[in-house]
Amino acid sequence: MKFYQMTPAARRAALVAEGALTPAAAAQLATSGALPAAVADALSENQIGQFTLPFGVCRNLVINGQLTQVPMVTEEPSVVAAASNGARMVRASGGVHVTTAPHLVTGEIVFDHLADLPAAAQLVAARQAELTAVAAAAHPSLVARGGGLRGITPSIVAARWLKLQVTIDPQAAMGANLVNTLLEAMAAVVGEWLHAEPLVAILSNQVPEQTVATVTLAPAALATRDHSGQAIATRVVALSELAQVDSDRAVTHNKGIMNGVNAVVLASGNDTRAVAAAVFASATSATGMRPLSRWWLAANQLHGELRLPLPVGVVGGAISALPLAQVASALGRWHTVAQLQAGIAAVGLVQNLAALRALVGPGIQAGHMALQAHALAIAAGATGSEIQALAARLHTKDLAAARRALAALRKEGQHDNHRH
Ligand code: MEV
Repeated sequence: MKFYQMTPAARRAALVAEGALTPAAAAQLATSGALPAAVADALSENQIGQFTLPFGVCRNLVINGQLTQVPMVTEEPSVVAAASNGARMVRASGGVHVTTAPHLVTGEIVFDHLADLPAAAQLVAARQAELTAVAAAAHPSLVARGGGLRGITPSIVAARWLKLQVTIDPQAAMGANLVNTLLEAMAAVVGEWLHAEPLVAILSNQVPEQTVATVTLAPAALATRDHSGQAIATRVVALSELAQVDSDRAVTHNKGIMNGVNAVVLASGNDTRAVAAAVFASATSATGMRPLSRWWLAANQLHGELRLPLPVGVVGGAISALPLAQVASALGRWHTVAQLQAGIAAVGLVQNLAALRALVGPGIQAGHMALQAHALAIAAGATGSEIQALAARLHTKDLAAARRALAALRKEGQHDNHRH
Protein backbone atom coordinates (compact mmCIF):
# COMPACT_ATOMS: atom_id res chain seq x y z
CA MET A 1 0.00 0.00 0.00
CA LYS A 2 1.24 3.50 -0.78
CA PHE A 3 2.26 5.68 2.15
CA TYR A 4 -0.50 8.23 1.53
CA GLN A 5 -3.15 5.50 1.50
CA MET A 6 -2.15 4.18 4.94
CA THR A 7 -3.66 5.18 8.27
CA PRO A 8 -1.54 7.59 10.34
CA ALA A 9 -0.66 4.68 12.68
CA ALA A 10 0.51 2.54 9.75
CA ARG A 11 2.57 5.47 8.41
CA ARG A 12 4.30 5.87 11.77
CA ALA A 13 4.93 2.11 11.87
CA ALA A 14 6.46 2.26 8.37
CA LEU A 15 8.79 5.08 9.43
CA VAL A 16 9.81 3.13 12.55
CA ALA A 17 10.45 0.02 10.41
CA GLU A 18 12.66 2.10 8.11
CA GLY A 19 14.60 3.47 11.07
CA ALA A 20 13.47 7.05 10.31
CA LEU A 21 11.55 7.35 13.60
CA THR A 22 12.28 5.80 16.98
CA PRO A 23 9.39 3.90 18.61
CA ALA A 24 9.39 6.56 21.35
CA ALA A 25 9.06 9.38 18.80
CA ALA A 26 6.26 7.49 17.03
CA ALA A 27 4.44 7.10 20.35
CA GLN A 28 4.89 10.80 21.00
CA LEU A 29 3.41 11.66 17.60
CA ALA A 30 0.46 9.36 18.29
CA THR A 31 -0.42 10.84 21.65
CA SER A 32 0.93 14.33 22.08
CA GLY A 33 -1.39 16.53 20.07
CA ALA A 34 -1.35 19.06 22.86
CA LEU A 35 1.58 20.85 24.46
CA PRO A 36 2.29 20.31 28.13
CA ALA A 37 0.24 23.02 29.92
CA ALA A 38 3.33 24.68 31.38
CA VAL A 39 5.03 24.88 27.95
CA ALA A 40 1.94 26.42 26.34
CA ASP A 41 1.66 28.99 29.11
CA ALA A 42 5.36 29.84 28.90
CA LEU A 43 5.36 30.27 25.12
CA SER A 44 2.61 32.88 24.91
CA GLU A 45 1.21 35.70 26.99
CA ASN A 46 -2.55 35.50 27.62
CA GLN A 47 -2.66 31.85 26.55
CA ILE A 48 -6.25 30.55 26.63
CA GLY A 49 -6.04 27.37 24.55
CA GLN A 50 -4.03 25.47 21.97
CA PHE A 51 -4.17 25.47 18.19
CA THR A 52 -2.96 22.29 16.56
CA LEU A 53 -2.06 21.52 12.95
CA PRO A 54 -1.35 18.26 11.09
CA PHE A 55 2.23 16.96 11.21
CA GLY A 56 3.02 15.49 7.78
CA VAL A 57 6.09 14.24 5.99
CA CYS A 58 7.57 14.84 2.57
CA ARG A 59 8.36 11.27 1.63
CA ASN A 60 11.69 10.06 0.33
CA LEU A 61 13.30 13.32 -0.72
CA VAL A 62 16.91 12.72 -1.72
CA ILE A 63 18.98 15.61 -0.36
CA ASN A 64 22.70 15.62 -1.04
CA GLY A 65 22.54 11.90 -1.74
CA GLN A 66 20.64 11.02 1.45
CA LEU A 67 17.11 9.62 1.37
CA THR A 68 15.29 11.94 3.79
CA GLN A 69 11.84 12.13 5.37
CA VAL A 70 11.21 15.83 5.81
CA PRO A 71 8.66 16.88 8.45
CA MET A 72 6.09 19.49 7.38
CA VAL A 73 3.39 21.26 9.38
CA THR A 74 0.73 23.06 7.35
CA GLU A 75 -3.03 23.52 7.08
CA GLU A 76 -3.14 23.47 3.23
CA PRO A 77 -4.18 19.96 2.10
CA SER A 78 -2.25 19.90 -1.20
CA VAL A 79 1.12 21.07 0.15
CA VAL A 80 2.57 17.82 1.52
CA ALA A 81 1.07 15.86 -1.38
CA ALA A 82 2.75 18.20 -3.89
CA ALA A 83 6.10 18.12 -2.07
CA SER A 84 6.12 14.31 -2.00
CA ASN A 85 5.15 14.30 -5.66
CA GLY A 86 8.06 16.66 -6.42
CA ALA A 87 10.40 14.43 -4.38
CA ARG A 88 9.35 11.45 -6.52
CA MET A 89 10.00 13.37 -9.76
CA VAL A 90 13.59 14.22 -8.83
CA ARG A 91 14.51 10.94 -7.12
CA ALA A 92 15.60 9.07 -10.25
CA SER A 93 17.99 11.90 -11.15
CA GLY A 94 19.79 11.87 -7.81
CA GLY A 95 17.55 14.32 -5.96
CA VAL A 96 18.33 17.83 -4.80
CA HIS A 97 21.81 19.19 -4.13
CA VAL A 98 22.07 21.93 -1.55
CA THR A 99 24.95 24.17 -0.58
CA THR A 100 24.87 26.41 2.46
CA ALA A 101 26.91 29.43 3.51
CA PRO A 102 28.39 30.05 6.98
CA HIS A 103 25.59 30.81 9.44
CA LEU A 104 26.24 34.39 10.61
CA VAL A 105 23.84 36.99 11.97
CA THR A 106 24.27 40.74 11.67
CA GLY A 107 22.85 43.41 13.91
CA GLU A 108 23.01 47.16 14.20
CA ILE A 109 23.68 49.64 16.96
CA VAL A 110 22.60 53.12 15.85
CA PHE A 111 23.12 56.56 17.37
CA ASP A 112 21.25 59.70 16.33
CA HIS A 113 22.11 63.34 17.11
CA LEU A 114 25.89 62.96 17.43
CA ALA A 115 27.75 66.26 17.04
CA ASP A 116 30.80 64.82 15.25
CA LEU A 117 29.89 61.70 13.28
CA PRO A 118 33.33 61.01 11.71
CA ALA A 119 35.04 61.34 15.12
CA ALA A 120 32.50 58.95 16.69
CA ALA A 121 33.03 56.41 13.88
CA GLN A 122 36.82 56.64 14.34
CA LEU A 123 36.56 56.19 18.08
CA VAL A 124 34.56 52.98 17.73
CA ALA A 125 36.92 51.69 15.06
CA ALA A 126 39.90 52.33 17.35
CA ARG A 127 38.32 50.59 20.38
CA GLN A 128 37.11 47.38 18.68
CA ALA A 129 39.20 45.16 20.97
CA GLU A 130 37.39 46.53 24.02
CA LEU A 131 34.03 45.86 22.39
CA THR A 132 35.11 42.32 21.58
CA ALA A 133 35.78 41.81 25.29
CA VAL A 134 32.37 43.27 26.19
CA ALA A 135 30.66 40.92 23.75
CA ALA A 136 32.58 37.91 25.11
CA ALA A 137 31.65 38.81 28.69
CA ALA A 138 27.98 39.18 27.72
CA HIS A 139 27.83 35.55 26.52
CA PRO A 140 30.86 33.54 27.63
CA SER A 141 29.31 30.14 26.79
CA LEU A 142 28.86 31.18 23.15
CA VAL A 143 32.57 31.99 22.94
CA ALA A 144 33.38 28.67 24.63
CA ARG A 145 31.40 26.89 21.88
CA GLY A 146 33.44 28.66 19.19
CA GLY A 147 30.97 31.43 18.38
CA GLY A 148 30.72 35.11 19.22
CA LEU A 149 31.62 38.45 17.71
CA ARG A 150 33.14 38.33 14.21
CA GLY A 151 33.33 42.01 13.28
CA ILE A 152 32.17 45.58 13.79
CA THR A 153 31.86 47.98 10.86
CA PRO A 154 31.06 51.63 11.65
CA SER A 155 29.38 53.70 8.97
CA ILE A 156 27.48 56.97 8.66
CA VAL A 157 23.94 56.60 7.28
CA ALA A 158 22.35 59.48 5.35
CA ALA A 159 24.75 61.96 6.97
CA ARG A 160 22.71 61.59 10.17
CA TRP A 161 23.15 58.29 12.00
CA LEU A 162 26.20 56.46 13.24
CA LYS A 163 25.60 52.79 12.53
CA LEU A 164 27.75 49.98 13.88
CA GLN A 165 27.09 46.85 11.88
CA VAL A 166 27.97 43.90 14.06
CA THR A 167 28.48 40.34 12.77
CA ILE A 168 28.04 37.44 15.16
CA ASP A 169 28.47 33.69 14.83
CA PRO A 170 25.59 32.16 16.85
CA GLN A 171 26.72 28.55 16.25
CA ALA A 172 23.73 26.16 16.29
CA ALA A 173 21.19 28.76 17.46
CA MET A 174 19.10 30.92 15.14
CA GLY A 175 20.76 33.72 17.03
CA ALA A 176 18.14 36.42 17.55
CA ASN A 177 18.20 36.29 21.34
CA LEU A 178 21.89 36.02 21.86
CA VAL A 179 22.70 38.59 19.19
CA ASN A 180 20.35 41.06 20.86
CA THR A 181 21.99 40.35 24.24
CA LEU A 182 25.43 41.08 22.81
CA LEU A 183 24.23 44.17 20.97
CA GLU A 184 22.59 45.71 24.03
CA ALA A 185 25.72 45.12 26.15
CA MET A 186 27.94 46.68 23.48
CA ALA A 187 25.52 49.58 22.86
CA ALA A 188 25.60 50.51 26.55
CA VAL A 189 29.41 50.71 26.51
CA VAL A 190 29.59 52.71 23.26
CA GLY A 191 26.89 55.01 24.65
CA GLU A 192 29.17 55.80 27.61
CA TRP A 193 32.09 56.56 25.28
CA LEU A 194 29.98 58.87 23.12
CA HIS A 195 27.93 60.35 25.98
CA ALA A 196 24.82 59.49 23.99
CA GLU A 197 21.92 57.09 24.27
CA PRO A 198 21.74 54.51 21.49
CA LEU A 199 18.64 54.83 19.30
CA VAL A 200 18.45 51.10 18.67
CA ALA A 201 20.40 47.89 19.19
CA ILE A 202 18.79 44.99 17.32
CA LEU A 203 19.64 42.20 14.93
CA SER A 204 18.86 42.60 11.24
CA ASN A 205 16.66 39.97 9.60
CA GLN A 206 18.52 40.70 6.39
CA VAL A 207 20.53 37.56 5.57
CA PRO A 208 23.01 38.08 2.77
CA GLU A 209 24.16 34.46 2.75
CA GLN A 210 22.02 32.19 0.64
CA THR A 211 21.21 28.51 0.75
CA VAL A 212 21.21 27.22 -2.83
CA ALA A 213 19.24 24.13 -3.88
CA THR A 214 19.68 22.75 -7.39
CA VAL A 215 18.24 19.88 -9.35
CA THR A 216 18.84 18.42 -12.81
CA LEU A 217 16.32 15.96 -14.17
CA ALA A 218 15.28 14.20 -17.34
CA PRO A 219 12.09 15.78 -18.74
CA ALA A 220 10.49 12.31 -18.97
CA ALA A 221 10.03 12.39 -15.18
CA LEU A 222 7.44 15.16 -15.65
CA ALA A 223 5.13 13.38 -18.09
CA THR A 224 1.41 13.56 -17.31
CA ARG A 225 -1.50 11.59 -18.71
CA ASP A 226 -2.04 14.16 -21.45
CA HIS A 227 1.42 15.69 -22.00
CA SER A 228 4.89 14.32 -22.73
CA GLY A 229 7.62 15.12 -20.23
CA GLN A 230 9.36 17.22 -22.90
CA ALA A 231 6.24 19.33 -23.45
CA ILE A 232 5.77 19.84 -19.70
CA ALA A 233 9.43 20.77 -19.19
CA THR A 234 9.27 23.34 -22.01
CA ARG A 235 6.16 24.87 -20.47
CA VAL A 236 7.66 24.85 -16.94
CA VAL A 237 10.59 26.86 -18.35
CA ALA A 238 8.19 29.28 -20.07
CA LEU A 239 6.30 29.79 -16.80
CA SER A 240 9.57 30.32 -14.93
CA GLU A 241 10.60 32.92 -17.54
CA LEU A 242 7.26 34.68 -17.12
CA ALA A 243 7.93 35.00 -13.37
CA GLN A 244 11.25 36.75 -14.19
CA VAL A 245 9.43 39.62 -15.89
CA ASP A 246 5.91 39.63 -14.41
CA SER A 247 5.67 40.61 -10.73
CA ASP A 248 2.12 39.28 -10.45
CA ARG A 249 3.36 35.84 -11.38
CA ALA A 250 6.60 36.11 -9.36
CA VAL A 251 4.69 36.69 -6.11
CA THR A 252 2.56 33.59 -6.65
CA HIS A 253 5.53 31.54 -7.86
CA ASN A 254 7.22 32.44 -4.56
CA LYS A 255 4.07 31.69 -2.56
CA GLY A 256 4.23 28.13 -3.86
CA ILE A 257 7.86 27.88 -2.71
CA MET A 258 6.89 29.31 0.69
CA ASN A 259 4.19 26.64 1.02
CA GLY A 260 7.00 24.15 1.48
CA VAL A 261 9.52 26.42 3.19
CA ASN A 262 7.09 27.62 5.84
CA ALA A 263 5.82 24.11 6.59
CA VAL A 264 9.33 22.81 7.27
CA VAL A 265 10.35 25.90 9.26
CA LEU A 266 7.22 25.57 11.38
CA ALA A 267 7.84 21.85 12.01
CA SER A 268 11.37 22.70 13.14
CA GLY A 269 10.07 25.10 15.79
CA ASN A 270 11.84 28.05 14.14
CA ASP A 271 10.57 31.60 13.72
CA THR A 272 8.55 31.56 10.48
CA ARG A 273 8.35 35.37 10.38
CA ALA A 274 12.14 35.77 10.47
CA VAL A 275 12.43 33.50 7.43
CA ALA A 276 9.54 35.28 5.68
CA ALA A 277 11.10 38.71 6.31
CA ALA A 278 14.50 37.61 4.99
CA VAL A 279 12.97 35.91 1.94
CA PHE A 280 10.81 38.94 1.20
CA ALA A 281 13.93 41.14 1.14
CA SER A 282 15.69 38.79 -1.23
CA ALA A 283 12.66 38.55 -3.55
CA THR A 284 12.32 42.32 -3.87
CA SER A 285 14.14 44.12 -6.64
CA ALA A 286 14.08 47.68 -7.93
CA THR A 287 11.57 46.69 -10.60
CA GLY A 288 9.22 44.66 -8.39
CA MET A 289 9.18 41.10 -7.15
CA ARG A 290 11.47 38.51 -8.62
CA PRO A 291 11.18 34.74 -8.42
CA LEU A 292 13.29 32.94 -5.82
CA SER A 293 13.86 30.05 -8.23
CA ARG A 294 14.36 29.59 -11.95
CA TRP A 295 14.09 26.68 -14.35
CA TRP A 296 15.87 26.19 -17.67
CA LEU A 297 16.64 23.50 -20.24
CA ALA A 298 20.20 22.61 -21.21
CA ALA A 299 21.51 19.48 -22.91
CA ASN A 300 17.98 18.13 -22.87
CA GLN A 301 17.85 18.20 -19.07
CA LEU A 302 15.61 20.39 -16.94
CA HIS A 303 17.62 22.42 -14.42
CA GLY A 304 16.18 24.18 -11.39
CA GLU A 305 17.80 26.44 -8.84
CA LEU A 306 16.38 28.01 -5.68
CA ARG A 307 18.27 30.61 -3.64
CA LEU A 308 17.00 31.39 -0.16
CA PRO A 309 18.19 33.30 2.89
CA LEU A 310 17.40 30.97 5.81
CA PRO A 311 17.84 32.39 9.31
CA VAL A 312 17.17 29.25 11.37
CA GLY A 313 18.75 27.29 14.20
CA VAL A 314 18.64 23.80 15.65
CA VAL A 315 18.76 24.67 19.36
CA GLY A 316 17.25 27.25 21.68
CA GLY A 317 13.90 28.92 22.26
CA ALA A 318 10.78 27.18 20.98
CA ILE A 319 12.93 24.64 19.10
CA SER A 320 14.00 23.11 22.40
CA ALA A 321 10.70 23.75 24.21
CA LEU A 322 8.29 22.19 21.69
CA PRO A 323 8.28 18.39 22.07
CA LEU A 324 7.19 17.79 18.47
CA ALA A 325 9.88 20.13 17.14
CA GLN A 326 12.32 17.71 18.75
CA VAL A 327 10.62 14.79 16.99
CA ALA A 328 10.73 16.74 13.71
CA SER A 329 14.39 17.44 14.19
CA ALA A 330 15.17 13.74 14.72
CA LEU A 331 13.04 12.70 11.71
CA GLY A 332 14.60 15.32 9.43
CA ARG A 333 18.10 14.52 10.82
CA TRP A 334 18.71 18.17 11.58
CA HIS A 335 21.83 17.99 13.73
CA THR A 336 23.34 21.14 12.25
CA VAL A 337 21.95 24.41 10.94
CA ALA A 338 23.22 23.46 7.47
CA GLN A 339 21.23 20.20 7.51
CA LEU A 340 18.04 22.04 8.45
CA GLN A 341 18.68 24.69 5.79
CA ALA A 342 19.20 21.91 3.25
CA GLY A 343 15.87 20.28 4.20
CA ILE A 344 13.98 23.57 3.92
CA ALA A 345 15.50 24.58 0.58
CA ALA A 346 15.14 21.12 -0.95
CA VAL A 347 11.45 21.01 -0.06
CA GLY A 348 11.02 24.56 -1.40
CA LEU A 349 12.49 23.53 -4.76
CA VAL A 350 10.48 20.33 -5.24
CA GLN A 351 7.34 22.12 -4.02
CA ASN A 352 7.91 24.69 -6.75
CA LEU A 353 8.50 21.98 -9.37
CA ALA A 354 5.30 20.15 -8.45
CA ALA A 355 3.30 23.40 -8.58
CA LEU A 356 4.70 24.47 -11.97
CA ARG A 357 4.15 21.01 -13.45
CA ALA A 358 0.55 20.96 -12.26
CA LEU A 359 -0.06 24.50 -13.52
CA VAL A 360 1.21 23.84 -17.05
CA GLY A 361 -0.22 20.31 -17.15
CA PRO A 362 -3.50 19.26 -15.59
CA GLY A 363 -4.03 22.59 -13.79
CA ILE A 364 -3.95 23.10 -10.06
CA GLN A 365 -7.61 22.64 -9.24
CA ALA A 366 -7.93 18.94 -10.04
CA GLY A 367 -5.61 17.93 -7.21
CA HIS A 368 -6.72 20.74 -4.90
CA MET A 369 -10.39 19.96 -5.27
CA ALA A 370 -9.88 16.28 -4.49
CA LEU A 371 -7.91 17.11 -1.35
CA GLN A 372 -10.33 19.82 -0.29
CA ALA A 373 -13.27 17.45 -0.73
CA HIS A 374 -11.39 15.04 1.53
CA ALA A 375 -10.92 17.76 4.18
CA LEU A 376 -14.57 18.86 3.87
CA ALA A 377 -15.76 15.27 4.29
CA ILE A 378 -13.81 15.04 7.56
CA ALA A 379 -15.15 18.41 8.70
CA ALA A 380 -18.68 17.16 8.00
CA GLY A 381 -18.07 14.26 10.38
CA ALA A 382 -17.12 11.42 8.03
CA THR A 383 -14.79 8.80 9.50
CA GLY A 384 -12.93 5.77 8.17
CA SER A 385 -14.03 4.61 4.74
CA GLU A 386 -16.80 7.22 4.72
CA ILE A 387 -14.17 9.91 4.04
CA GLN A 388 -13.28 8.66 0.55
CA ALA A 389 -16.87 7.73 -0.24
CA LEU A 390 -18.21 11.14 0.74
CA ALA A 391 -15.32 13.07 -0.87
CA ALA A 392 -16.07 11.37 -4.20
CA ARG A 393 -19.63 12.72 -4.04
CA LEU A 394 -18.85 16.29 -2.95
CA HIS A 395 -19.12 18.98 -5.59
CA THR A 396 -19.54 21.76 -3.04
CA LYS A 397 -17.52 23.73 -0.50
CA ASP A 398 -20.56 24.11 1.72
CA LEU A 399 -20.30 22.36 5.08
CA ALA A 400 -24.05 22.12 5.60
CA ALA A 401 -24.44 20.49 2.19
CA ALA A 402 -21.60 18.11 3.01
CA ARG A 403 -23.35 17.15 6.25
CA ARG A 404 -26.54 16.44 4.35
CA ALA A 405 -24.61 14.30 1.87
CA LEU A 406 -23.05 12.39 4.78
CA ALA A 407 -26.48 11.78 6.29
CA ALA A 408 -27.68 10.49 2.92
CA LEU A 409 -24.63 8.25 2.64
CA ARG A 410 -25.27 6.80 6.07
CA LYS A 411 -28.92 6.31 5.29
CA GLU A 412 -27.95 4.22 2.32
CA GLY A 413 -26.39 2.00 4.97
CA GLN A 414 -23.32 1.17 2.94
CA HIS A 415 -20.88 2.89 5.26
CA ASP A 416 -21.65 2.24 8.88
CA ASN A 417 -18.13 2.28 10.29
CA HIS A 418 -18.76 5.67 11.91
CA ARG A 419 -20.45 3.78 14.70
CA HIS A 420 -17.22 2.06 15.71
C1 MEV B 1 -1.02 27.36 -4.18
O1 MEV B 1 -0.98 27.30 -2.77
C2 MEV B 1 0.38 27.63 -4.75
C3 MEV B 1 0.45 27.87 -6.26
O2 MEV B 1 -0.40 28.95 -6.64
C4 MEV B 1 1.90 28.20 -6.57
C5 MEV B 1 2.15 28.65 -8.00
O3 MEV B 1 1.26 29.22 -8.63
O4 MEV B 1 3.29 28.45 -8.44
C6 MEV B 1 0.01 26.67 -7.04
